[in-house]
Amino acid sequence: MKLQDKITVITGAGKGIGRAAALAAAREGATIVAVARTQADLDETVAMIQADGGRAISLSRDLTCGEEVCSLVDTVLEKFGRIDILVNNAGGYPKEIYEGREHQAIRLWEWSEGQWDQIIRTNLRIPFLCMKHILPVMIRQGSGKVVSVSSRMGRIASQMGAYAVAKGGIVTMTKTAAIQTKEYGIQVNAVAPGIVDTPGQRVYNHSVGQDDVKMGSAEDVANAIVYLLCDAPDVMTGQCIDLFTTT
Ligand SMILES: NC(=O)c1ccc[n+]([C@@H]2O[C@H](COP(=O)([O-])OP(=O)(O)OC[C@H]3O[C@@H](n4cnc5c(N)ncnc54)[C@H](OP(=O)(O)O)[C@@H]3O)[C@@H](O)[C@H]2O)c1
Repeated sequence: MKLQDKITVITGAGKGIGRAAALAAAREGATIVAVARTQADLDETVAMIQADGGRAISLSRDLTCGEEVCSLVDTVLEKFGRIDILVNNAGGYPKEIYEGREHQAIRLWEWSEGQWDQIIRTNLRIPFLCMKHILPVMIRQGSGKVVSVSSRMGRIASQMGAYAVAKGGIVTMTKTAAIQTKEYGIQVNAVAPGIVDTPGQRVYNHSVGQDDVKMGSAEDVANAIVYLLCDAPDVMTGQCIDLFTTT
């Protein structure tokens, strides 16, 4: 029970990697604040955690909106008085971006301004807003841990345009946050998984005609997140751990 009573905000905890991380952290004793937009998904996550003997609440918020992130932080502080952990997981590559395309690669010059902004909002603005509003809470406490979910697409020469740029941005933001918060006892790291079997990934695979692609498990990613939260030494900060979820 290495996370006993740690107040743990997990974004995108309605399904996929976020849900798996919520279950894994709860098994270590963490109190989970599961956040996403879809209340029904959050209810399911909370029920799964409670059935497993853990503690969790849910808050439905659109995290691309600064006011909703502030309201999330206010609500957690009113209820629990602190935030020990942030798992910055919400993100994705929504169907409308790639639907109807003949090939997966969208060349940089083919992105519309609207598509580009939408992907950056979901994948870089959300983790920025959560760090912006939660790091000051951790600084006041003199402790805290953040793990963000980047992607292999942010670590290599990728065909995924704005998504890869945002995921690479998470790695840079992790390093910046780490050097700016180390003196306050805060540890900031990231994980960069390859392809992982989640509801979001299955929709993508189907749309691009790759239903049979090999995928890793969300539980493996969750275990890496929990490792960073429980066992990584304090000096290990600003790191992005590549996870070879697929070979
Ligand atoms: N699956 C993979 O292969 C893979 C690989 C590498 C990295 N990743 C990254 O891992 C993270 C989780 O991916 P996943 O595959 O588990 O995705 P998923 O199955 O699509 O789940 C995404 C979660 O994020 C939430 N979310 C999305 N937009 C949000 C918003 N504006 N406000 C609040 N919550 C929001 C979704 O809930 P609502 O829609 O209800 O808000 C959902 O709970 C993402 O950052 C993704 O980029 C995934």
